[in-house]
Amino acid sequence: MPVKIAPSILSADFARLGEEVRTVDEAGADWIHIDVMDGQFVPTITFGPLMVEAVNRSTDLPLDVHLMIVEPERYINQFIEAGADWITVHIEATEKIYRIVEAVHSANRQIGVSLNPDTPVEILRQYLSEIDLVLVMSVYPGFGEQEFIPSALEKIRTLVKMRAEAGAEFLISVDGGVNESNAHSIVQAGADILTAGSSIFKTENPALAVENLRKAVESR
Ligand code: DX5
Ligand code: ZN
Repeated sequence: MPVKIAPSILSADFARLGEEVRTVDEAGADWIHIDVMDGQFVPTITFGPLMVEAVNRSTDLPLDVHLMIVEPERYINQFIEAGADWITVHIEATEKIYRIVEAVHSANRQIGVSLNPDTPVEILRQYLSEIDLVLVMSVYPGFGEQEFIPSALEKIRTLVKMRAEAGAEFLISVDGGVNESNAHSIVQAGADILTAGSSIFKTENPALAVENLRKAVESR
């Protein structure tokens, strides 16, 4: 399966959000990544279901909603109704992973589980056959424009092994500090999806940034 590119709108210009989303869509992005932050699980507050709805009106691409909120089970249905296709929750933020998996699957959407940089991948072992995606955080969540933490590469390799051992099929996505220079090694480690905010939207030409990220993955 070709690597997917998921631009994160956290670094987009919210005053021109529809235009920003359409630009990366036309440039060949595969998903739109939407970072929901509650000021509790992470220090920042961003946006909620209304933003997901607005993005949904701007594109037909799958919406990949990354919930950095405590007790995400309280809001799953709202995000589904708003148009989320993929919903990712943090393992550190809930004790109700099975309940969330059931809620998301019964609405025919896909469920992801994310891990902070200090959380070991082993914690996911019992869920691997139930989930559709693992989101490896390669920065501490809460902010864009941070530097990629290299230990994420080892986590990706471990997840690839665990996936084979379990006969599971989840996708591996990587989020934080992804750019043209490290994309190739992240994909070589086994990532299926590259999530990137600032290296796309904080450039002069976001469309070109998407194309260059794609080239960086495919070349060499
Ligand atoms: C960070 C968010 C990321 C963020 C990545 O908490 O989950 O999706 O947008 O931004 P960059 O690509 O700038 O590290
Ligand atoms: Zn994210």
